[in-house]
Amino acid sequence: MKDFKGKTAVITGAASGIGEAFAHEAACRGMNVVLADIEAPRLANVEAAVRDKGAEALSLVTDTSKKDDVAALADAAFARFGNVHFLALNAGVAGAKGGTAWDTAPAEWDWVMGVNWQGVLYGVQAFVPRMIEKGEEGVIEATSSIMGLNTGTTAPYNVAKHAVARFMEGLYYDLQVAGSKLQAILLCPGPIATEIVKSTRNKPQAVPVEEGGLGGRAKIFHNWLHEHGMAPADVADMVFKAAEDGSFYVHTHPEYIEASFMRRVKGIVSEDKLPLELPPDFIEG
Ligand SMILES: NC(=O)c1ccc[n+]([C@@H]2O[C@H](COP(=O)([O-])OP(=O)(O)OC[C@H]3O[C@@H](n4cnc5c(N)ncnc54)[C@H](O)[C@@H]3O)[C@@H](O)[C@H]2O)c1
Repeated sequence: MKDFKGKTAVITGAASGIGEAFAHEAACRGMNVVLADIEAPRLANVEAAVRDKGAEALSLVTDTSKKDDVAALADAAFARFGNVHFLALNAGVAGAKGGTAWDTAPAEWDWVMGVNWQGVLYGVQAFVPRMIEKGEEGVIEATSSIMGLNTGTTAPYNVAKHAVARFMEGLYYDLQVAGSKLQAILLCPGPIATEIVKSTRNKPQAVPVEEGGLGGRAKIFHNWLHEHGMAPADVADMVFKAAEDGSFYVHTHPEYIEASFMRRVKGIVSEDKLPLELPPDFIEG
């Protein structure tokens, strides 16, 4: 997809971080922008900022873990702008505690899988049939993570991001088989300077947190991300370039992917065992 001007972008998780950067990039490219997020005040700020850039904008408070919310978002976007050409299924949460396979709370599983994985599923189900029917070019992006391709512990975040990666690979083929002009993009970020570590700000009450949230570890990691992470604007730029080039994978940190993914593949194909050394846990709770 080369031409964005006058077309429409829909972005989930648009009130912060990577989603906010998508919104600004879309506005700069002359797109109409539909912004969806669970955090109303921040969403309103981003809406005002993209309007200042000259974009037509619409924002909807949306919980991507709720199928009806995502369906309502699609209804609103198609009703206002007629079609959607850039769908970014990007909303995500890191989790709260993310214990072991046997002691992570069911409420945490529901929350993290709901936002990170089912949010993507609901988005594809609500938007893609209508985008296909319109017969125009378009892009469906989903935000996974390097944790979606490598191995590691059972934190719900990692499991959800694997689901997103495999689902989007499948969508890539489904679109080809259907002869669609739509393109799938899988974004696998490494460390990005966003608010992801503070995700418990949006958690349902039933999700237990340790005293002080993720504790000292979270604070250290948040500061580290903001010191060393990539700027969200650079990520948005990479994704729009991938849309122009027709690429599927977008790796913000190919050096991390190569090391951790190759270790995993080597374990699978030639050693019949998992690597002993765990990859660095950038995000997981
Ligand atoms: N920052 C990183 O290092 C990193 C690395 C890999 C992947 N990611 C992924 O990037 C995506 C964007 O996260 P970010 O890093 O910009 O973090 P962020 O916290 O800055 O932004 C995430 C946005 O999602 C929204 N959100 C949370 N729960 C929601 C819900 N139920 N419904 C709708 N919106 C909801 C938040 O309010 C927030 O605005 C996520 O999917 C995340 O997992 C981030």
